Parts: sequence; structure tokens; C-alpha cells
Amino acid sequence: MQTEISYAPIAGIATELLAVLAADTQTTKSSNSDFGAKPQPTLLTNDSAVEAAAAGVLASGEYKAGANETVLIHAPAGLAAKRLLIVGLGKLAKATVDGVREAAGTAVRFAKPRGIREVALALPSPEGLLHAMAPHAAVARAAVEGALVGDFDADTYRSDRKDRSIQRLTIGAADGDRAAIEAGVREGVMIGESQNFARSLVNEPGNKLTPTILGQRAAVMAEEVGLGWDVHSTEKLHELKMGAFWSVSQGSPEPPALIVLRYEPEGVTEGPVLGLVGKGITFDTGGISIKPADNMEKMKYDMAGGAAMLGAMRAIALLKPRVRVIAIVCAAENMPSGTAQKPGDVQTAMPLAADKPGKTIEIINTDAEGRLVLADGLTYARQLGATHLIDAATLTGAVSVALGRAIGGVFSNDDATYAKFAAALAVSGEKFWRLPLGEEYAELIKSDIGDIKNTGGRYGGASIAAEFLHTFAEDTPWIHLDIAGVAWVEESRPYVAKGPSGIAVRSILEWVRSY
Ligand code: BES
Ligand code: MN
Ligand code: ZN
Repeated sequence: MQTEISYAPIAGIATELLAVLAADTQTTKSSNSDFGAKPQPTLLTNDSAVEAAAAGVLASGEYKAGANETVLIHAPAGLAAKRLLIVGLGKLAKATVDGVREAAGTAVRFAKPRGIREVALALPSPEGLLHAMAPHAAVARAAVEGALVGDFDADTYRSDRKDRSIQRLTIGAADGDRAAIEAGVREGVMIGESQNFARSLVNEPGNKLTPTILGQRAAVMAEEVGLGWDVHSTEKLHELKMGAFWSVSQGSPEPPALIVLRYEPEGVTEGPVLGLVGKGITFDTGGISIKPADNMEKMKYDMAGGAAMLGAMRAIALLKPRVRVIAIVCAAENMPSGTAQKPGDVQTAMPLAADKPGKTIEIINTDAEGRLVLADGLTYARQLGATHLIDAATLTGAVSVALGRAIGGVFSNDDATYAKFAAALAVSGEKFWRLPLGEEYAELIKSDIGDIKNTGGRYGGASIAAEFLHTFAEDTPWIHLDIAGVAWVEESRPYVAKGPSGIAVRSILEWVRSY
């Protein structure tokens, strides 16, 4: 997608499809007396030609400007555009920057199936009703992100696939702070493309994206954007004594990949080193504790946490924050076989220092493999000098039981670090809810034979898994994101395709930028 900005009056933009936002300005609260108070759909532009073209449909009562509600006007009188699409934000009083992100995606996803390859999107006019909503840069950025995210479709292996991607996106910025809008658009492109990069990895099936191939894809990306990188395999796992990571990989003929990416901005030699750790299980059968067949195909997305880290690193390399970052993705296949680990086996995790012993883990369930690879990933990040940690993983089914399919789980051992993440969420528009860690959960994973066991019963499964990781993060300020419920969009929405969501890329990036 080519993105450009037009500062001309939006009525003059010659395009296949001009999208303009609208909101419901009705403020009367429903009560018995005014029950059914009519919505007042209002265009978020002060372009009088666009207002005139839309006046009829807005007055008709057919269109209510509900969130992502659309109406199309062909050959709109007085406009250079061939079509005018009005996209709703819902109630104006509740409109958010994230609503603009969705509306942009809705416009793009409206265009795609109709073979329209060119879209212009008018930013809500700052002189209009939305002027107080947010800085122009944030609105422009969100619009571009939404358009790019909306452009993604998952059907890459269809033999008769028609590429319907949008070739040209024009951001209509007739008024507003040009420098801010330009900066916002530039960021939006980098971030939206990085999120889609992560999604393209998550979408790949297990036979097309083995740990080795994931390592290659990471290396190619790192070269493109100028990150330092290493992709290690079996030998390095043994050298580092990564007994927990290796125990997951040992059942598969596919070798593991220990992917390390480094972002080292010039002249930054002090201050924090942020460690990003991702779960990269390219397929999770469960191992000897094998999963049931139903929905097992979805376990190709068990590397979504790793992909989120790779996407975030891509965006970091392009946006160049003044902080050092290392990313570690622990990629392996979890398979049952004659060489697979067994329930009851005891594994020794990577020691933090060569002269210290590694913690011993009793394997109760080989399907609780994500925490095993992350245990060594977290330790390695600390050994490499990370002062603050963030991990992302499709770790537990239990997190979806707790929070559903729209909100991810976040855990932290440090309130100040968590506060920075919460602030990042306000920018990214992604939704996470903090869940507890604690001694109550640590109790449940004490082992009779060793230090710790890898499962602790059904109840509180997401917190138990998080507490397991806490054992390895120890006192290093740390954020854990359990994205098992939100990494895959089960039903397509007006603004995003069914398939990989790319969740967490934007929030991790903003968290990094806050240092
Ligand atoms: N990859 C799964 C978690 C998962 C489930 C991700 C559904 C996405 C959708 C993870 O490795 C797993 O199997 N977790 C087990 C842990 C249990 C054995 C303690 C689970 O959640 O059932
Ligand atoms: Mn599993
Ligand atoms: Zn898994």
C-alpha cells in the first residue's frame, strides 16, 4: 500500500472511494419520555461540498452513524471522488482514537471485496466536532494503522487467490497541523506494516514455518531494518544448559531456533536494557500429553508471542527510540515421539550464572510447554543484561476462560513497570487486563521431587502459569502478556479479517518507547 497525504480540499480528491467519518451527536439520554430519541448523524468534516453530497442520506433516517456503520453514495454531486463512503464512529461523546483506527479499517475492508484499489480517507476535521479528541498526530497515525491492518487477508495459500490489496491510500488532511499529521502518517505506516509482518508469520502453517524457517524470516527482517541478530540451534541450547527449552524441542526432528535480535542505538551506553521474550512454538500438539483433535490445527499460532516480538523489533528499528533492546524468541515444535519428554521427567533449567545451579522442573503435563521455553528465554535475557523484561505468549486456555476473546491478560511483579505498560495501552488501543501473581499460586507448583512443577491444577491456570514464569524473572521488573485468547480473530469484523490479530505489537512498541 502506497500512502500519501493530500492537503487539498477533500471535495477535490480524485479517487475511487472517499471515506468520511460521521458520528451521532444526539446527546439526549433515553428515558421514558424521550424513548427513541432519534440519532443525529453528523459528518466530521467542514467541507461544505461533502456535506451537501451527504445531506440527503443523513436526513433520511436510514443511516445512524453507529460504530463502523457504512453507507455508500455513488457519483456524489460536486465531488471529484467516484464514491463517497460514510463510516460511523458511534456516539460522538464516546468517540476515541481507536474508533478512528477501526473506521479506517472498515473503509478499506469495504473497498477490497468490491475490487476498489484506491481509497482516500478524510481525517476528522480539527475545526469540526472532533478537535478536542486527540492530537492530530495520534489520529493520523491511528487512521493509517487501521487502514493497513484492515488491508490484511489470511487466504495466502488459495490457488485462485485474487490480490485485492489496496494500492494507494490518500490521507485527506485539508486542515490541521501538517507537521503533526505527517509524523503521524509516517509512524502509522511503520507500525501497521510491522503488525502485519507479525500476522503474516502467525498465519503460516506449521509445515511452512518450522523453527528454522522462523529464524530465517527473523534474520531477513533484521537485515532489512538494520538490527543485530543471531539465530542459534541445538548446540547453543546445550552450551547454555537450556534444559527446559530443549526438553520441549527434543521430541521433534525439527531443530529448535533461539532467535536473538539486538537494537543498539548509537551513543546509548547507559540506562535500561529492555528484554523482549517471545514464545515461538511453531506447532503445539501437546507432546505426549497430546491434545484432542478438535481445533488442534489452530496450534500453528502458538508462536504468536514470538511473532509479536519480531514485529515490535521491526517497528523499534524503524522508529529508533533512545533505549537498548534485545529480543529473544524461543522457537520449537512440541511433538510426541520416542524422543519426546514424558510426564514425570525432571528437567534442569538454564542457570543465571555458570557457577549457580539451574532450577529443576518436574514435568507433569508436556502440554504446558510454553512456560518451559520461556523460563530459559527469560533467564537468557537477564544473562545478556536485560534490566526490564516483557514476554508475550499464547500460554494458557485459562486466560480465555477468565477474560474472553477480546481482552488479553497482563501480569507484573512491579507496579511502576506495569504503570508504563498501562500508559502504552492508552496509545496502542489494545486491551489487556491485569491478573494476579502471588504466593497462593506459587504454593500450587511446588514439586515433591524438585524445585517446581510445570502445572498446578485447573483453577487459576493463567495465574499459575504466570507465577511459574515469575520464578525465572525473579526480581527483575517484568511484564507477562498471555495472548492465548486474543492472538486469533475467530470471526471477521468490519475492520479486521478473521485470522491472526497481530496483538501486542503496538503495545510492546509503546512500552519500549516510554523508556
Ligand atoms: N498453547 C497452549 C495454550 C493455548 C490454548 C493457546 C488455546 C491458544 C489457544 C499451551 O501450550 C497449553 O497447552 N496450555 C495448557 C496448559 C495446561 C496443560 C496446564 C492449557 O491451557 O490447557
Ligand atoms: Mn501446550
Ligand atoms: Zn502451547
